[in-house]
Amino acid sequence: MSGIISIEGGVPLQGRIRVEGAKNACLPIMAASLLCAGEVTLREIPALEDVFNMCKVLEALGAKTKYDAAQKKLIINSEGPLQTEAPYELVRKMRASFLVIGPLLARIGRARVSLPGGCAIGIRPIDLHLKGLKAMGAEVIIGHGFIETVSNRLCGERIYLDFPSVGATENIMMAAALAEGITVIENAAEEPEVVDLARFINSMGGRVSGAGTDTIRIHGVSSLNCTDYTIIPDRIEAGTFMLSAAITGGEVTVENVIPTHLTPLLAKLREAGCQVVEEEGLIHISRTGPIRAVDIKTLPYPGFPTDLQSPMMALLTYAKGTSVITETVFENRFMHVDELRRMGAQIKIESNCAVVSGREKLYGAPVKATDLRAGAALVLAGLAAQGRTDVSAIYHIDRGYSNFTEKLASLGAKIKRIEQPW
Ligand code: EPZ
Repeated sequence: MSGIISIEGGVPLQGRIRVEGAKNACLPIMAASLLCAGEVTLREIPALEDVFNMCKVLEALGAKTKYDAAQKKLIINSEGPLQTEAPYELVRKMRASFLVIGPLLARIGRARVSLPGGCAIGIRPIDLHLKGLKAMGAEVIIGHGFIETVSNRLCGERIYLDFPSVGATENIMMAAALAEGITVIENAAEEPEVVDLARFINSMGGRVSGAGTDTIRIHGVSSLNCTDYTIIPDRIEAGTFMLSAAITGGEVTVENVIPTHLTPLLAKLREAGCQVVEEEGLIHISRTGPIRAVDIKTLPYPGFPTDLQSPMMALLTYAKGTSVITETVFENRFMHVDELRRMGAQIKIESNCAVVSGREKLYGAPVKATDLRAGAALVLAGLAAQGRTDVSAIYHIDRGYSNFTEKLASLGAKIKRIEQPW
């Protein structure tokens, strides 16, 4: 089913919204459940297309999954026997499927996974994932669109990441959890989702230390046990809702957040003229005055998150003055610019910089989502635009936001989802 999200702009959002569990913590943790020859229970699991797809990948590998949407609980049993091949069709659809390669290699010594395709935001290479697995002794064969990795016993190694890749850090950490000896990942990603994965592995009896810093040490163990684990809140969903309050000049309280995970966004919202009050597990965000232009530079954590670049750009299209947005993480993450221009935004792209000249008003228009965060950005722009905005290709949004229209409607937005049968 395809569909559109239709928005009548101009309503300042008001109220409280509770943030779900983090998609980008949930997906690697689901992959890591393959490390345990038993049952794990995961809590605060959001009802997302990417979660359902990852369940299909795990089931194709021989695991059993059971999701209870009401309780947001997912039970995964990877007792086995496990298959070695993740199906092409599923991996092709979702890059995060590639995260099964590390745990499969660690658990059964073999993994055959299709090369994850690139996507709208970049070619998305996997050289750093493979550098780590090879360093630990895996033999890697690439051919016919597949990657085959084989290893009798992975051995701990010191691995330097040329870029602090989140996925490479996670794949290597999972492989190292059952390897012989100690693995040290240098220039590791420091994202909160990487820390959550480390905590999950440790809750199964793993020995991971240093997660959240640029150096992570993993002592391999012989096996990992069952666990019951609650994942962290989604800082990107939280940031998206905060930006929906900022862009409409409303007043919203976001619940189930960890403010320290959002430091760069909180700073930029304050610089842009918003009032931001942090409490334990809560953030109150409001804006009464004009939006001020601010410069943004995306960086690996703890820098400004690339996943909030497009939603932040939506806000800045309404700012008084000119903002410069520099995207340093992905090479092509400005696909939403053309769509914002259709709404009247004034944006010039120079290499990896977008120069945004703020406008008093944007105007509703039919626009198309190009990735999940771009889709969210277009909805945000529509919330403040004059007239009606129809966002298509909303399957992108469903990958990373559950009940997105219902949640915004609960804050007063005039928004609805129109399914189209074709
Ligand atoms: C994770 O993707 C997130 N996805 C992305 O969120 C997020 O944007 C990204 O990290 C950066 O924070 C999940 O966690 C499922 P990377 P990942 O490896 O792991 C280059 C969303 O919207 N690179 O840190 O794929 C790569 O090309 C999604 O929720 C290599 O060069 O990101 C990119 O330029 C989008 N070689 C940069 O690193 C490699 O082997 C960051 O990629 C791997 C990556």
